[in-house]
Amino acid sequence: MAGRAVAAARTRSAAVAAPLATPLAGATAVVTGGSRGIGRATVRALAATGARVVSVSRSADREPAAGVLAVAADLLDPASAARAVGEIERVLGGPPDVLVNNAGCFDLAPVEDTSSAMLASALTLNLAAPFALIRAFLPGMRARRRGHIVSIGSIADHIAFPGNAAYAASKFGMRGLHEVLRAEIGGSGVRASLISPAAVGTTIWDTLDPATRARLPDAAAMLDPSAVADAVLFAVTRPEAVSVDEIRLSRS
Ligand SMILES: NC(=O)c1ccc[n+]([C@@H]2O[C@H](COP(=O)([O-])OP(=O)(O)OC[C@H]3O[C@@H](n4cnc5c(N)ncnc54)[C@H](OP(=O)(O)O)[C@@H]3O)[C@@H](O)[C@H]2O)c1
Repeated sequence: MAGRAVAAARTRSAAVAAPLATPLAGATAVVTGGSRGIGRATVRALAATGARVVSVSRSADREPAAGVLAVAADLLDPASAARAVGEIERVLGGPPDVLVNNAGCFDLAPVEDTSSAMLASALTLNLAAPFALIRAFLPGMRARRRGHIVSIGSIADHIAFPGNAAYAASKFGMRGLHEVLRAEIGGSGVRASLISPAAVGTTIWDTLDPATRARLPDAAAMLDPSAVADAVLFAVTRPEAVSVDEIRLSRS
């Protein structure tokens, strides 16, 4: 499955006899930004393995797949995010087994042209909203001694690209949050994985000014969103004793 697409995966070794996959039948999952792009592919991949999935986005998904429930929320608005948490816990009867923090924005400008508003949007949607969802669901996951928190980072969470001031600040921040989380949840039964893709062919590029876009990778050099969904599925279906700490993906 993900093996071919995964450029590098660091897995914490454990005393496991055979790497049997954990089925997701009966499991629950939440994917933010599930209406388009990587999130939509991930929602569908998780639902196809039998998970009950809640997809969170502003528009919600007008054509949710079987087993998928759409919750409308604007994650730039903390009150809307808090209402979404309440709605998710109501429909799932508690925190999900799998949380995929995926919704994100991508606005490019050099440092001196990055406005406070651009920085605030990137930090709110790409970092503060994931943080709020983790804070909301982690206590319940710990109590159950089961749960998986997946963060969709980026190649820009570990490599500095000119023009990525706000985006890199948010994605390096997400990596930091992920690493601290991993350090804190060891032995709790809760796992965390950071998936860091290079360019993926989604609508996120459509928002960029065409002059900027001309200097960026063209569509043929991008990953398909399904490659990222495969990596998420790989991470969350390992045996319980295995933690997939990080997966970096790039186009071969
Ligand atoms: N595409 C790439 O090249 C690439 C590469 C590396 C990492 N990533 C990361 O992958 C993640 C997904 O990116 P994508 O390319 O799939 O993006 P996308 O095609 O633009 O989709 C973004 C998703 O997030 C939702 N969303 C946006 N703003 C929201 C808000 N305020 N509240 C709630 N939901 C919101 C959108 O739904 P609504 O508009 O309906 O709200 C949509 O479902 C992001 O974190 C991005 O940084 C992308």
